Amino acid sequence: MMSDAAFLSRLREKLGTTGVLMDPAQCESYAIDWRRLFQGKPLVVARPSNTHEVAAVVALCRDYQIAIVPQAGNTGMAGGAVPDASGRELVLSLARMNTIRSIDPVGMTMEVEAGVILKTAQDAAAAQGRLLPVSLAAEGSAMMGGIVATNAGGLNVLRYGMTRALVLGLEVVLPDATIVNGLRHLRKDNAGYDWKQVFIGSEGTLGIVTAAVMRLLPQPKDSVTALLSVPHPQAALDLLACVQSELGDSITACEMMAGFSLGLVEKHFGLRRPIADGEWFVLIEAASTLSGLREATETALGHALQRGFALDGIIAESGRQAAELWQLRERITESEGKEGKSVKHDVSVPIPLIPAFLRAADEAMARLLPGTRINCFGHLGDGNLHYNILVDRHTADEVNVVVHDVVQRFGGSISAEHGIGQYRVAELDRRRAPEEQILSRKIKDAIDPDGLMNPGKVLPRKSAHGH
Ligand code: FAD
Ligand code: MLT
Ligand code: ZN
Repeated sequence: MMSDAAFLSRLREKLGTTGVLMDPAQCESYAIDWRRLFQGKPLVVARPSNTHEVAAVVALCRDYQIAIVPQAGNTGMAGGAVPDASGRELVLSLARMNTIRSIDPVGMTMEVEAGVILKTAQDAAAAQGRLLPVSLAAEGSAMMGGIVATNAGGLNVLRYGMTRALVLGLEVVLPDATIVNGLRHLRKDNAGYDWKQVFIGSEGTLGIVTAAVMRLLPQPKDSVTALLSVPHPQAALDLLACVQSELGDSITACEMMAGFSLGLVEKHFGLRRPIADGEWFVLIEAASTLSGLREATETALGHALQRGFALDGIIAESGRQAAELWQLRERITESEGKEGKSVKHDVSVPIPLIPAFLRAADEAMARLLPGTRINCFGHLGDGNLHYNILVDRHTADEVNVVVHDVVQRFGGSISAEHGIGQYRVAELDRRRAPEEQILSRKIKDAIDPDGLMNPGKVLPRKSAHGH
């Protein structure tokens, strides 16, 4: 077996000393996930600065049979971007690949490298009057490679779809170090298999995304943001249906939050909700390139209030006030972290079943852990809730099983947008039909026969018997 010293010395030859981090202090932030649940130990952190350097690292890893853990902004919620504790896995950071290669405001596309921070990409598109619609609370740190590799959801899925709906082309480095350039700036391309779909959402288990062509949209001229309190989740759905009937696809976001969630934000960030207390709140945003949006939104929300779907509400008077309302929603995750440990869920159920799902999940949790505090919020318009239980992590597996049993009963998914990473591997494996898992394994084996790409993420590690 060839030695680590030889491997590391060849890695330095390929990337130079700035491209290789070995000092444990420098590697620290690459070794632990955002939630600080998964602490690993990288053999080394490689920081290539272009696609050819990525391919060179991958070729070297193939020669030495070193496993690779791709990492972009390391904001993932499923522990997918951190290595295991063996000290044998290389972290491949895309952070130095941060060039926006092009923006085409006429063709409505932008080509970005994997290390471009989402917010930087959004701002660059906005400067040309175009919208990159992916938006999430981690957008100041998450990078485009991670966004694509997790098929990120977020706050605007209701109108624009998940990341998958916005990717036109991809450049990937395969586990055998081949560079595949599919960076086509085409709205229509039906030529052959759409292989990029397999890499979108594959969480680093099939190859490395080095660049992407993203679809852009016109930047809306006007947007209206409103916060409403609602008596119960069914009213939140009625509210959404009511405003959707009147405003059509101008609705870009419809987020629901428990009063408890907003209480956490107030406690940890001092941000107060501007309307009366309630058990549930809904944040709605509408945006349009046409005029008259505000009046139409006021009318639609007025009707919802008259019909009792909402109890109270406020429409932001300025961009600043709209941002303040969004802070109430976007600070929930950090507030939950400050409050203490939690067992997170990222589930989806068919939209009309949300109220019944919540009743059933609350009952199941009350039976398992009476009196437990539940931080429930999420993307109502997408049927995606974060149903987070504020308990110490030692009960995580038990809690997961109870909540996911309810999800399964309602025909839902145990990962709506965060992916599987290492956090949900066992749960996915026990709940997905064997035929689906076998098909996924065939895809994995076909593209990554040596199993060197992010082992143990998404699919279970192969046993010594090769299963
Ligand atoms: P990382 O965490 O670095 O990586 C995520 C996964 O992708 C890992 O498995 C990694 O190995 C793989 N990967 C990374 N880069 C590449 C690459 N170039 N090639 C191949 N594989 C790669 N997510 C949502 O979907 N919706 C939300 O609303 C949302 N809100 C969030 C709010 C907060 C406060 C935080 C902290 C996170 C939130 N997330 C949300 C989760 C996270 O931001 C997203 O999953 C994001 O897409 C991860 O991007 P990243 O660059 O940080 O990826
Ligand atoms: C969100 O919707 O804010 C995110 O998905 C993060 C979380 O689940 O905490
Ligand atoms: Zn979310």
